[in-house]
Amino acid sequence: MEPVVSSQMKFKHIISTEQFLDKETLASVFRTAEKFEKDDRRGKIQQLLRGKILASVFYEPSTRTRFSFESAMLKLGGGVITTESAGHFSSAIKGETLEDTIRVIGGYADVIVLRHPEVGAAQRAAEVSPVPIINAGDGAGEHPTQSLLDLYTIQKELGGINNLRIALVGDLLYGRTVHSLIKLLSVGRRIRIYLVSPPALRLPGSYRWFLKRHKINFSEDPRLEKILSDLDVLYVTRIQKERFSSQKIFNKIRNSLVIKRGHLALLPQRAIIMHPLPRVNEIAKEVDLDPRAAYFRQAKNGLYIRMALLKSIFIS
Ligand code: NCD
Repeated sequence: MEPVVSSQMKFKHIISTEQFLDKETLASVFRTAEKFEKDDRRGKIQQLLRGKILASVFYEPSTRTRFSFESAMLKLGGGVITTESAGHFSSAIKGETLEDTIRVIGGYADVIVLRHPEVGAAQRAAEVSPVPIINAGDGAGEHPTQSLLDLYTIQKELGGINNLRIALVGDLLYGRTVHSLIKLLSVGRRIRIYLVSPPALRLPGSYRWFLKRHKINFSEDPRLEKILSDLDVLYVTRIQKERFSSQKIFNKIRNSLVIKRGHLALLPQRAIIMHPLPRVNEIAKEVDLDPRAAYFRQAKNGLYIRMALLKSIFIS
């Protein structure tokens, strides 16, 4: 499905990473994020969004995405209205449809950040919303703003995105951050992707097809040890417990890929370890002390990327 994008405003809605596959667009988002980071360090952020209101509507739990969007809006001088666990506290519990909820909240806010358990929910919302929708995760679909902050982190930490050798590890079936990142990586040249997952959690065919169509070199192997020494980025993900219909299958898989100190010895010194967080047990705590562990720096970058995205929605 083609994401809804208005012709006047480049980012009226942010639904899929596919809206960012143009190098200039991406570079401009990254430049703005960098500028906000510098301004923030100096305590000098311009109140560009004064008078605007962001509504965060989350039908699934969130720490980083919701707080960073809300913090981004506040730092830019805007206001925030919010409902946590929208499925329980909003009228969804009374049977209201997502479309009706969005139409109504769109009358109170200037932008809606939406997280929902169903694939395609953000697109559905965008079709009826009077204000821009930002997809903050639609089930096992996409999480475009996360992939933007992921690529921004790679660029900041490694100096560029060409010739990148990256392993995507963990739940490639349900992990929406991986789905969005795979698409975004197509902007780089000579990228090599290693897909490392338990057999039951392999990357879905449509994303595999995307990689083939964009002529991105990729291979699949569940044996991480074999590829570690070749990596620039080790991108680890959580097994998405909430998407499993059988607890038994989840329990079988849950501990199958855990990054420990032993793995670090095989990883090149220049490489980085990333994770969208939350981490459960797929990266042992001992790894946090290694300077290559970039996941907390990555989470912080989310604030500046989201400031840049909010700016791009309101000010072209
Ligand atoms: C991710 C998500 O919600 O998809 N979290 C995040 O936004 N940083 C990853 C996850 O929940 O595992």
